[in-house]
Amino acid sequence: MKVLILSFSNNQVNEDSFIPNKIGLTFSCVEECEKALKSLGKEVEHICINRKNIKKCLACGKRGWGICLNEHICIQKDDFNEIYKYMENFDAYVFITPVYFHEMSESAKTFFDRLKRCDAFNENSKIKGKKIVCIACAGGSGSGTEETLKAFDTLNYFLGTEMYARIPVTKANFAKQKEVIDNAMQIKEN
Ligand SMILES: Cc1cc2nc3c(=O)[nH]c(=O)nc-3n(C[C@H](O)[C@H](O)[C@H](O)COP(=O)(O)O)c2cc1C
Repeated sequence: MKVLILSFSNNQVNEDSFIPNKIGLTFSCVEECEKALKSLGKEVEHICINRKNIKKCLACGKRGWGICLNEHICIQKDDFNEIYKYMENFDAYVFITPVYFHEMSESAKTFFDRLKRCDAFNENSKIKGKKIVCIACAGGSGSGTEETLKAFDTLNYFLGTEMYARIPVTKANFAKQKEVIDNAMQIKEN
């Protein structure tokens, strides 16, 4: 089984960040997922979306729909189409985002805006029906993790995926939540 982790934090490439965790909580969760998946004999790949060139949706075309509606690709020439196509090769997905202002990060919103447009009405979608695990990484208070996970519920609805686990993580509960993350990596393909 092949699992793709998509992460949405800049922190590992910005070690001067004020956040007092060298690789950041998002990357710590990526590492935990990779470790757990490998120990279960699953293949895993990780793409940090922040390191890719993904522009905002232009809402181009008539009535707010571009070629994404019928051709299921985006008209913009950046890294999006390649990643969207690449997602077909995997049996399940893990999405890991920091919580910013009670929401998923900017790179997550930008990526999922375009994924929804290309895939939500794609009858030949290779993403629909596959399981997703969603992890929201917050600061001390943890406020906003539930709103972030609710946004993933909405994404799950429009993508027609199957929510396998939704996991709130903070720096304070990370040690405890590792067990929850490890259990969620037992994810099986449909
Ligand atoms: C712009 C910004 C907004 C944030 N908003 C929230 C928030 O609403 N709730 C919260 O608990 N933490 C918030 N945080 C803290 C981050 O969620 C936390 O530091 C998290 O660990 C960031 O992920 P990272 O370690 O992968 O960078 C915010 C941080 C930043 C930089």
